[in-house]
Amino acid sequence: MSRKPFRHFWAIWRAASEDEASLPSRPLSQRYHTPNVPPRKIEFRSWLTRCSGLRFIVTSREEIMRLFDLSGKTALITGSTKGIGRASAEALAAANARVVISSRTAEDCERVAAEIRDAGGDATPIPANISRDDELEDLVKTTEEKLGPVDVLVCNAAVNPYHGPFLDIPDDAFEKTIRVNIRSNMRLAKRVIPGMQKAGGGAIVVISSIAGFKGSDMLGTYALTKAADAQLVRNLAVCYGKDNIRANGIAPALVKTDFARKLWENEERARQVAESYALKRLGEPDDIAGAVHFLASDAGAWMTGQTLIIDGGWSVYE
Ligand SMILES: NC(=O)c1ccc[n+]([C@@H]2O[C@H](COP(=O)([O-])OP(=O)(O)OC[C@H]3O[C@@H](n4cnc5c(N)ncnc54)[C@H](OP(=O)(O)O)[C@@H]3O)[C@@H](O)[C@H]2O)c1
Repeated sequence: MSRKPFRHFWAIWRAASEDEASLPSRPLSQRYHTPNVPPRKIEFRSWLTRCSGLRFIVTSREEIMRLFDLSGKTALITGSTKGIGRASAEALAAANARVVISSRTAEDCERVAAEIRDAGGDATPIPANISRDDELEDLVKTTEEKLGPVDVLVCNAAVNPYHGPFLDIPDDAFEKTIRVNIRSNMRLAKRVIPGMQKAGGGAIVVISSIAGFKGSDMLGTYALTKAADAQLVRNLAVCYGKDNIRANGIAPALVKTDFARKLWENEERARQVAESYALKRLGEPDDIAGAVHFLASDAGAWMTGQTLIIDGGWSVYE
């Protein structure tokens, strides 16, 4: 009888053992921070598949899905009644997170939360204007009372009240942009981080913009705040990485939402902008939501302090 199949089996066995040996020495169940998956089940399956040489085939799907699972996690997403925030809330709810739906408009929060619940998700409406300190405090306090500490914070809501020459911006518009786009994100982070420290970790995602990577005249102050958001996540990453708290940003190009409507509602203008993107189309909110999900979950467990550019290939296009 040919010894080939045995040699083949032995090669797989050795490869699997070497692969396992090259991984950190912690047991598989502790490598990721998903308390809801019974460790014994993972260890047994890992052992069985390693012994049988089928490790590559059998374990992968469930383990990969587990990296994205947010069961038992509470996710607070600001500005989640529409656009990128809503799409992100839907993605996190689909991954089993308890999501908080928030914006300035109470009826919208109720409606969107009800729609997510109808689709099988767990959503709680908590309205708040993030430019007001007392409402920010209420937002986190009510979340903690209803759902426990925040595991995932998505700082998504932002404003851009002025479009015009950079240095001509009125003081009140300048202060509002700084207050909503930077200060509120800092305050939210400051408020949720103690709970994350107690829980053994957490994830913060800040929605920045590609506007923050280039000089800008007409969108100058908005761009300034979006550049600051990229620095905010670097600072948070450095300060709280030791507590297993990750902070990352996402910098989208033009996404078809109400916020950017003026830039894409004219068909000819939208076509011209799309032409400057390698993928030849503008973004949709779901194009950003997948990255929020990745950064919020254990799939992004070793990523912190970065701002992901999601721009349809604009920044690499000649
Ligand atoms: N769309 C783009 O092309 C684009 C590109 C790059 C970056 N971004 C960034 O993406 C994020 C989301 O924008 P979007 O395009 O998805 O906007 P959107 O569709 O207009 O949604 C904005 C959300 O934020 C809420 N909101 C606005 N001001 C608020 C405040 N002071 N307090 C609490 N909630 C507030 C809005 O609800 P209410 O009005 O009812 O409060 C809404 O739920 C922003 O940070 C934006 O800078 C967008």
